[in-house]
Amino acid sequence: MIVITGVSGALGGAILDGLRAVEGLEVIGASSSGDGTAVRRADFDRPETLEQAFAGADVLVFVSAGYAEDDVVLARHGAVVQAAAGAGVKHVIYTSLAASGERLSIALAHRWTEERLAEAPFDVTMLRNGIYAEVAAGMALAGAVSAAESGVFAAPFGDGRVSVVARDDLAAVAVRVAAEAWSDVAAGVPRRHAGRTYELEGLGAVGGHDLALALTGALGRPVEYRTVPLGEARRLLAGLEAYQAGHTVSMFSNINAGLLEARHSDLPAFLDAPRSVWDLIEAVVKSGLQG
Ligand SMILES: NC(=O)c1ccc[n+]([C@@H]2O[C@H](COP(=O)([O-])OP(=O)(O)OC[C@H]3O[C@@H](n4cnc5c(N)ncnc54)[C@H](OP(=O)(O)O)[C@@H]3O)[C@@H](O)[C@H]2O)c1
Repeated sequence: MIVITGVSGALGGAILDGLRAVEGLEVIGASSSGDGTAVRRADFDRPETLEQAFAGADVLVFVSAGYAEDDVVLARHGAVVQAAAGAGVKHVIYTSLAASGERLSIALAHRWTEERLAEAPFDVTMLRNGIYAEVAAGMALAGAVSAAESGVFAAPFGDGRVSVVARDDLAAVAVRVAAEAWSDVAAGVPRRHAGRTYELEGLGAVGGHDLALALTGALGRPVEYRTVPLGEARRLLAGLEAYQAGHTVSMFSNINAGLLEARHSDLPAFLDAPRSVWDLIEAVVKSGLQG
């Protein structure tokens, strides 16, 4: 049996749908709320819910738990590792962060979790996910109102770019790896994904000029990119939770420094035809402007 956590989220939900479409698998979704399409409650903030939620799982797809302060995420993820061990799960597949994100502030919790998983008494596969194309589209959308008025998309990227990947492509890789991991466990053969770390970096990189182009298409008026200082961008984030502002500035700094452009990706080993991130960004921006 395969259990997937976080199925009320976009990634976990897509993985659940993908696994349900594979014939011959017993698949159970888990969510912190325990309702909707999920049949089990797995609230990482309530460790007592977890062993029960993972009971009987041969394979656990552990979707990282959202955006929060580091101490909260570490407590959540530590509880998942402990409960998976207690429930006798044989193979855990963790949705981590790609190598290009090593210097992002969110990397701390991901690498800490990878270390805890590596020490645990089950097989592990790290799916080191690249930055979602949907995140880049969100950055374009954040500047859309002002771009519509001024014809300028202002963002603190300098000349930097970020490699991005469609979230549904990451879900498709997770579905394949989980189904194969389960099939190896069931057949009692060596587990091909055990101990493996896959870098699922995007194959296309976008910068300020690319996002201005997407806004040009979506708004039907010329939009040009102009970089702004990080300090100015930080002031505009004042309405966010402190940790969100911190993670966002960290993302901007990394793009600006050119650190988020990937050098290697394992994506082609899993997908014949990754989705076009350009088309996806344009579609998300268009629908965001209509909605
Ligand atoms: N690579 C990237 O660009 C990128 C961007 C954003 C986020 N991420 C990471 O990837 C994960 C999945 O992304 P997404 O797009 O699906 O995010 P999302 O739609 O915002 O969903 C948030 C996720 O966090 C989970 N979560 C929050 N609180 C939880 C709790 N107390 N216990 C268990 N799970 C909890 C949710 O699960 P339930 O509510 O179903 O329990 C859901 O899976 C995120 O949680 C985040 O760690 C990556």
